[in-house]
Amino acid sequence: ASYEMIKTEKRGDKQNVALITLNRPKALNALCDKLVSELSQAVECYDKDESVGAIIVTGSEKAFAAGADIKEMLNQTYSKNVKEGLLEAWDKITKCKKPVIAAVNGYALGGGCELAMMCDIIYAGDRAKFGQPEVTIGTIPGAGGTQRIARSCGKSKAMEICLTGNQITALEAENMGLVSKVIPADKLVDEAIKLGEKIASHSPLIIQMCKESVNVAFESSLQEGLRFEKRAFYATFATDDRKEGMTAFTEKRAPNFKNN
Ligand code: HXC
Repeated sequence: ASYEMIKTEKRGDKQNVALITLNRPKALNALCDKLVSELSQAVECYDKDESVGAIIVTGSEKAFAAGADIKEMLNQTYSKNVKEGLLEAWDKITKCKKPVIAAVNGYALGGGCELAMMCDIIYAGDRAKFGQPEVTIGTIPGAGGTQRIARSCGKSKAMEICLTGNQITALEAENMGLVSKVIPADKLVDEAIKLGEKIASHSPLIIQMCKESVNVAFESSLQEGLRFEKRAFYATFATDDRKEGMTAFTEKRAPNFKNN
């Protein structure tokens, strides 16, 4: 597919990591309908592409994304929101079965921060800035900000970030557990690709099961989550790749996974 507001390519030694770059520089990657729909389409496409083992979403050095498009929302009304489902297409990225890594340089504000949090892993460039500034423009986060920060960083941090609209630095975000690693800005995308390659070196089928299981931690009680995990763990014994992985270990060789 050809896109206007994103760039897509395959990267890594085995070309098995998909890199999606948000590319609307004039508006700091503000997430207008078209950008979000292209992003969703690209993610869906790579999710189905068997040669891809992990997907990276990144922006520019100045901005990952400066939020939902404020100019597009300006004249929206409550009744239209309800009838048309304003920004409902956003969470398509959370339906992706493959691991999605956000590589965040520059601003990740409002919907930009929420988009990063919809991904499975966040790596941040050392000058990245995160925040939920919606209250400063008379609204509140609407794509998961109040919920996902609370789950990943706890109540006090979530309240402070959402109620002040203040920006937080990459280092603060790392200390809060919002991002898993801070990397010099110019090395960020390469490091994210390395992470993607590492994940893609495992069995895609098993990776899918593992991702699904971690996600249950955010949707259930501990007991239910542990039960789900155990079932999924047992289910890996119905796969060829589980047999191959353990056999390769005992034979002291690298496994040759077949995604089966
Ligand atoms: C539309 C935006 C935009 C946005 C920036 N631009 N953010 N356009 N929506 N969210 C545009 C500006 O209008 C400007 O275009 C160009 O990008 C450059 O921005 P500047 O402000 O000139 O750049 P700078 O001075 O460097 O400041 C960067 C910034 C600032 C701090 C990131 O742009 C900013 O505060 N942006 C808004 C951040 C925000 O409030 N995000 C939350 C949105 S609400 P022109 O053509 O005018 O020069 C939201 C709700 C989500 O995300 C809820 C549901 C999904």
